[in-house]
Amino acid sequence: MKILVTGGTGYIGSHTVVELQQSGHEVVIVDNLSNSYASVVDQIEKITGIRPAFESFDLADPKKTLDFFDRHRDLGGVIHFAAYKAVGESMTEPLKYYHNNLSSLINILKGMQKAGVTNLVFSSSCTVYGQPDVLPVTESAPIKEAWSPYGHTKQISEKIIENTSRVNEINGILLRYFNPIGAHESALIGELPIGIPNNLVPFITQTAIGLRDKLRVFGDDYDTPDGTAIRDYIHVVDLAKAHVVAIDRMLKGKNKKQVEIFNLGTGKGFSVLDVIHSFEKVSAQKLNYEIVARRPGDVEKVWADTRFANEVLGWNAGKSLDDMMLSAWNWELALKKAKA
Ligand code: NAD
Ligand code: UD1
Repeated sequence: MKILVTGGTGYIGSHTVVELQQSGHEVVIVDNLSNSYASVVDQIEKITGIRPAFESFDLADPKKTLDFFDRHRDLGGVIHFAAYKAVGESMTEPLKYYHNNLSSLINILKGMQKAGVTNLVFSSSCTVYGQPDVLPVTESAPIKEAWSPYGHTKQISEKIIENTSRVNEINGILLRYFNPIGAHESALIGELPIGIPNNLVPFITQTAIGLRDKLRVFGDDYDTPDGTAIRDYIHVVDLAKAHVVAIDRMLKGKNKKQVEIFNLGTGKGFSVLDVIHSFEKVSAQKLNYEIVARRPGDVEKVWADTRFANEVLGWNAGKSLDDMMLSAWNWELALKKAKA
């Protein structure tokens, strides 16, 4: 089937395009390149031998988005990644986030209605849970007040899809990602943070390669075994594969409800120091880091209850933390080689 992948030149989108193509789907990417590069299309082609169709425009533009759906009436479904995702920036420029993330989704839903496209996979986040009261966190855990406008856009987007599906023929699968890291084993695609990374793993690999002076570990006084905060890190390729399962589930009419929600994680929590030690092991080098104060807004610990995704989707995140860190390091090395 032909699948629209919005944000398909981005980090998770590009890995998903590869998995979709390798499962026999035809892909059309829409991305305005606000946080990615057109050259990613070439890289995808190098991996799969198939060049995905690519259109560059802003999905927050209603006219262009509806025109796209007018021209593509043969879509089997949409996987919607396109959004702004920098949590800190969303605090200082909230309207930019509400406008982009919500208008894009609304335009896509209108386009789907117009073109009779019924299946939507949406990128949500474990950020909707805040600091859960019970761990591991299940999909039925309460949604807490969002700490950032970014997190709020994910909560609102989930509601928009749920409300729309009640009155229109839209099936939705909402995927709540935990912490995606790592890169494709070919080292041809990976995460390309623009500017100074906010996330842990790109900061580690950029420090090791000499682009940053040292990693700052935000807090060692949490109520965790080594005092540093705990997250559920998931390999981006495992995450990408779940999207293929999700879209196929709806295409085959196997979804049990119009809107289904799944946690995508490994179910295992690792501390910041665990991640550093794994990196040191796979790269055979010491990382320069120091412990500093907690980062405002960080939750102490979160990891997923993955049983629902495992049982219902028949999907498992198989890759270990070492696999994730090695692939992230190989990607950083490949970027350095490409620049040389
Ligand atoms: P990314 O920034 O690498 O990819 C998003 C892509 O969308 C970019 O290529 C960007 O150019 C494009 N885009 C943004 N706004 C657009 C618009 N209006 N029109 C067209 N294209 C647009 O981000 P990612 O890490 O691949 O994240 C993908 C999705 O997953 C996002 O919705 C993000 O919020 C969500 N998510 C990511 C993480 C994570 O840790 N990376 C965690 C939870 C959820
Ligand atoms: C953050 C976002 C989350 C978003 C995700 C992906 C917040 C509060 N949450 O998750 O909504 O979905 O990114 O973009 O911003 N750390 C350090 N030093 C660093 C960087 C991070 O010690 O330089 C620590 C953090 O304190 C945290 C862990 O590493 O404990 C992971 O951080 P990060 O990669 O930024 O992801 P989250 O904060 O979990």
